Amino acid sequence: MERVLVFDTTLRDGEQAPGCSMTPVEKMRMAKQLDTLGVDIIEAGFAASSPADFESVREIAREVRRPVIATLARATSGDIEKAAAALEPARQGRVHVFLATSEIHLQHKLRISQEECLERAGAAVEQAVRLVGEVEFSCEDATRTDLDFICQVVEVAVKAGARIINLPDTVGYAHPDEIRTMLATVRQRVPGIEDVVLSVHCHNDLGLAVANSLAGIAAGARQVEGTINGIGERAGNAALEEIVMAMRTRRDHFPYDTGIDTTEIYRTSRLLTVVTGIHPQPNKAIVGKNAFAHEAGIHQDGVLKHRMTYEIMTPESVGLQMSNLVLGKHSGRHALSQRYRALGYELTDEDLLAILHHGCMEDFPRRYKLRHLQVSCGSAAAVADVGMEVDGVMQEAMAEGDGPLAAAFAAVNRIASDHVIELHELTIQAISPGGDAVGEASLQATIDGKTFTGTAAAPDIVNAAVRAYLNALNKAAHARTLEAAALEQASYVWGV
Ligand code: KIV
Ligand code: ZN
Repeated sequence: MERVLVFDTTLRDGEQAPGCSMTPVEKMRMAKQLDTLGVDIIEAGFAASSPADFESVREIAREVRRPVIATLARATSGDIEKAAAALEPARQGRVHVFLATSEIHLQHKLRISQEECLERAGAAVEQAVRLVGEVEFSCEDATRTDLDFICQVVEVAVKAGARIINLPDTVGYAHPDEIRTMLATVRQRVPGIEDVVLSVHCHNDLGLAVANSLAGIAAGARQVEGTINGIGERAGNAALEEIVMAMRTRRDHFPYDTGIDTTEIYRTSRLLTVVTGIHPQPNKAIVGKNAFAHEAGIHQDGVLKHRMTYEIMTPESVGLQMSNLVLGKHSGRHALSQRYRALGYELTDEDLLAILHHGCMEDFPRRYKLRHLQVSCGSAAAVADVGMEVDGVMQEAMAEGDGPLAAAFAAVNRIASDHVIELHELTIQAISPGGDAVGEASLQATIDGKTFTGTAAAPDIVNAAVRAYLNALNKAAHARTLEAAALEQASYVWGV
């Protein structure tokens, strides 16, 4: 059966979304999980955008060996040189060169003519082919580009040696019919296109990203780009898990294979949630909390009699083991621990289990460690007493606040007083049912002018929130250290 290649850009386009930035360690963990999931190409970052991105692409290229590792590059020789250097350790690297082609971008953003656009595209692809070999070329804003001009640009890129041509719906504007027409026209008119893999990359501004991606596949695209949970700029990118499951469930329309092990989908989605602190909406297809929940009595009755009455795919097919383990209101932590085990995590202690993800995430140096937390609250102002290790030295502070969380955060702020912290969002949700539920706290904060996320889980929600706060603070402290090191290295690597 013909194959559709899956190109994951969670670590590049996804990571550009507000609140979705990841540390290098988190990116590496995600890259390894994407490898396990079976994606064909991982776009690991935009090497020229910062020294940290450069290093992160390079490390992933060094450690993740099966998939092709791609990095984005503008059509400039500086970007392409950095992309090539970052990909140097890769088993198989790919430079993803992009250049805007729509009139609105050429006139107002790049301020260049169509002739110059053609010249830049050709020169950039030639250079990237010379340095790396495998080159993907993207016509940014393709869906708002004149079709004749797209064909010209694609022809130039193909002649220069691009072996993958991507036609993105950058602003999520296209209708599925337009995607079909665009692909059909390019396939009909561009000489040599039969030796090239056509790719689609759709954004979700009108909620059409997955529909447009599937239209692209139906029209001959043999590579599809997207992100896990659909994270990405504005309304996000096409959600890969939705595309893959649509193809699998509707083989009558999409008789193509992918290399995806669909039973790894849920685990991948969950890891990304923990890393970014951004939960998919509960009713999100495939990975939302309610995607396989049946609430209505009639539906429950139907499913009990025959699952396929209301289920078009099984939860097991995406890695959710629900069949013989129903979490009810009396299940508590024991059932939670069994559920995790069913998901493939072997654990020895159910309390440790609850913080499994969070513990793993903190495999960067932890400057701050919570040692004790005592909060009293009631009718008077809340008072928190916090003990923390800072660089191995015990420090203690007390503070008051309007509530237990405000008091606890204020006490932490007293100890971490060399950071300027502004908390923006805090979500606490139960991740197991019952009165002894484990609470998971996710937050976003600006620390020293940069945005960080923090997550943690604990049976006590104030404790979970304080640990999430420290998780973000530890990332900020680590970022400071990395930045200082990168500045020194930058002058060495690029002679800045
Ligand atoms: O949306 C877009 O056009 C992109 C390109 C850089 C491929 O992300
Ligand atoms: Zn994009």
